[in-house]
Amino acid sequence: MEFTTLNNGIKMPMEGFGVFQVPDPAQCEQSVVNAIQAGYRLIDTAAAYFNEESVGAAIKKCGVPREELFITTKLWVQDAGYEEAKKAFQTSLDKLGLDYLDLYLIHQPLGDYYGAWRAMEELYKEGKVKAIGVCNFYPERLTDLCLTAKVTPAVNQVELHPFFQQENALATMKEFGVQPEAWGPLAEGKHGIFTDPMLTEIAGKYGKSVAQVVLRWNTQRGVVIIPKSIHQNRIVENLDIWDFELSKEDMDKISRMDLGHSEIVDHSSPEFVKYLHSAKVHN
Ligand SMILES: NC(=O)c1ccc[n+]([C@@H]2O[C@H](COP(=O)([O-])OP(=O)(O)OC[C@H]3O[C@@H](n4cnc5c(N)ncnc54)[C@H](OP(=O)(O)O)[C@@H]3O)[C@@H](O)[C@H]2O)c1
Repeated sequence: MEFTTLNNGIKMPMEGFGVFQVPDPAQCEQSVVNAIQAGYRLIDTAAAYFNEESVGAAIKKCGVPREELFITTKLWVQDAGYEEAKKAFQTSLDKLGLDYLDLYLIHQPLGDYYGAWRAMEELYKEGKVKAIGVCNFYPERLTDLCLTAKVTPAVNQVELHPFFQQENALATMKEFGVQPEAWGPLAEGKHGIFTDPMLTEIAGKYGKSVAQVVLRWNTQRGVVIIPKSIHQNRIVENLDIWDFELSKEDMDKISRMDLGHSEIVDHSSPEFVKYLHSAKVHN
């Protein structure tokens, strides 16, 4: 496993385990235990995934000391705002059964996220969270936050995979010293990614799977990855990417796969924004 050093000196694993769309509590708990036992140390959950308790239960029983783990959760849109964010942070900590977080992220740049950011800056200064960051902050929103915040976000988690490479977003993150983290690093299995002929050919050359090539590609351009799987064999496979390196030629071939847009979500769509505001995590 390799690590990246965030803009505040905190070390973050370059690969972690995501638990989006794992609503079944027993399955989520077992997947996280399996992942930690396979060697993952970063776990990525969110209030909006409704599985923080299961992640917490897995952390308790996994046998790895808390200080060796890197636990991320996220503030949902409903809780954007200063007071709301403070309360939501404590709710997440309680559900996870933890007394500090490694990384707390604003899930979407919607609602009063500046108020939320001020609360998160205070939580950070109080030592309740080792690093704070954002998700889905496209270049103009990230720039505005970086220019106005007291604490620059340490991480921006955005959709990043061969079909949506977002080089412009990576350039903005680099300018402000913000670590990019990929959600959907396997494109959520969409667009025939696992059977793509060129990726299959590259994978064959290294004796690796398409999933491994795609994950490795993102890490080689400096992006932290958090693939999700509920299958033990895939959990192990996705972590087995640290013993090979893609050549410049193969990196370049993959960089030509960019479609320039997401086929998963459209953050600029008013309907999607309405949907995100309508999704509630509590009464
Ligand atoms: N901040 C945000 O807005 C945001 C949005 C989305 C996701 N996320 C985070 O990012 C994490 C990863 O993204 P994601 O879960 O959306 O998608 P992903 O990791 O790109 O893809 C997961 C899908 O790929 C399948 N898969 C995993 N490994 C595989 C392999 N080796 N071979 C074949 N299929 C494989 C999984 O199926 P099985 O589970 O059946 O194996 C699942 O259907 C999430 O879990 C979450 O933590 C954040």
